Order: sequence, then structure tokens, then C-alpha cells
Amino acid sequence: MTYSPSAAATQASRASREPELRAPGPSTHISPAIQVHGLRKSYRTARGTLDLFDDLELEVEAGELVAIVGQSGAGKSTLLHILGALDAPSAGTVYCASTNVASLTARQAAAFRNREIGYVWQFHYLLPEFTAQENVAMPLLARGVRKAEAMQTAGQWLREVDLEDRSEHRPGELSGGEQQRVALARALVCQPQLLLADEPTGDLDGVTAGRVFDLIERLHASHKLTSLLVTHNMELALRCKRTLRLGSGRLTAVTAAALGSNLS
Ligand SMILES: Nc1ncnc2c1ncn2[C@@H]1O[C@H](COP(=O)(O)OP(=O)(O)O)[C@@H](O)[C@H]1O
Ligand SMILES: [Mg+2]
Repeated sequence: MTYSPSAAATQASRASREPELRAPGPSTHISPAIQVHGLRKSYRTARGTLDLFDDLELEVEAGELVAIVGQSGAGKSTLLHILGALDAPSAGTVYCASTNVASLTARQAAAFRNREIGYVWQFHYLLPEFTAQENVAMPLLARGVRKAEAMQTAGQWLREVDLEDRSEHRPGELSGGEQQRVALARALVCQPQLLLADEPTGDLDGVTAGRVFDLIERLHASHKLTSLLVTHNMELALRCKRTLRLGSGRLTAVTAAALGSNLS
């Protein structure tokens, strides 16, 4: 992350978008689920332009569970937002689930998120006035599924996250771990290809965090997801097959030894 007061014009000129939405094909190999090339993201601030990424590169194969660690402010959440089409890159190409996310209109981005992305945050963002089952059903209702069918599917998902006996509870009547289980069910109810989780266990005690992570691992495997998990929890990061550290605008592979000594 660097500040450069004169970079705004350069970034604007780099921001041209490729016209196609889907990855070029056909190809002789299965393309990675996530493919990021030359990513830059700039914010204008009172101090000048904040350049968050330095031609960041990332490839994640379908089926991988990858942890991302890094200091607060490194840009982890911004990276997930860009992958999930919640924010636009300033430059670079970003293919996610075979979609060029940078080229989506707002309406296409909303449909893409509903179809391909399961998102979980540190805070559950469940709607307080609705039951757990209604909350899980929301993404299905948003895509036009009829209420009876949406509620039935939501009930099945609550069973998957071991909360069928909490289906009538409102979020305020659930523990922190249970709220995140409901949030996971809601994230996956539309059967997306990708799970993007931004410190999903950050608010939980160690035991509960471990259980939620167990559930993420189980759902990742049983639904053949490609998952990116931002975490400050070194123990959980070490359980992922691959761990990347975001620092100085780039991602680098982290070994278990380095992870143990490097993170706050
Ligand atoms: N909309 C914005 N405008 C200006 N700066 C932003 C904006 N969003 C994030 N930032 C800055 O970008 C940096 C990275 O933020 P973030 O991606 O949330 O980091 P992390 O998740 O690694 O803690 C921070 O310094 C933050 O203040
Ligand atoms: Mg963050």
C-alpha cells in the first residue's frame, strides 16, 4: 500500500475494461476458478491517492481452500470485494467463476453474486426481524423462487449446518456461532461456485471459531466449492492447504514456520 499524489490520472487511463464477460474459450484445460492479473486499486484520499495493490497476481484452482492473511489495512477485504463484484478494480483483469467481474454492470454484478458467490463477513448481517429460516431463504426469493420452495430449501440448509432446531429463532435469539452458521447457510443456499469469507470467525471465541471453521471445511468439500478465507487466526490458516500473505500490495505464499512468527 503506497500513496502517490500524481497517480490518479494514470490509474484512470488504465481503467479500460475488456468487453467480454466470460473467459475466452474453448480451452484445453479447466481454467482456474479465480484468475487475477495486474490488479490495482486506488482510492483518492485527503493525503493523495492510496495505491492498494501493486500489479497483484492470484490464481486459485477450482476446489482449493486458500487462506489469506496480512496486517489490518493491507487490502484483504478490498480484494474480496473486487472478486465478489462488490467493488471495481482500477486496473487489471479479474476473472472469477469464468466471469470478467470488472466488466459487469450493477445489475449483472448483482445477478453474478446471487448465482456464483457465497459471501460471509465477520458480522453476520442477518436481518433481525426475520427468522433463521427466512434469512436463509432470502437469496432464493431474490432470484424469484416461490416462497414455499425457498423455505423448504432453506430448511434443508439449516439441517446442513446443524441448526434445524433453531429455524424459528430470530438472529438476536442465536449465539454468535449459530449466527455465523445461519450466515453460511444463506451464503450457500443458491449453490454458488465460490465461497468468499472475510474473517468469518473474527468475533468468536477459540472453540466456537474452530467449530465454524470445521463447518466451512465440511461445506467446502461436500459442495465442491472454491473458497477464499481471510483470517487473523494462524491456527485456522495453517489448516488450509495454501496460505497467502497480502503485504506491500502483493500476495506471497506463506510457509507454516513463517506464518507462526510473522503475524499479529
Ligand atoms: N472506500 C475507500 N476509500 C478510501 N480508502 C479506503 C476505502 N476502502 C478501504 N480503504 C483503505 O484501504 C486500505 C485497505 O482496507 P481493507 O481492504 O479494508 O484492509 P484489510 O481488510 O486488509 O484490513 C485501508 O487503509 C483502508 O482505509
Ligand atoms: Mg478487512
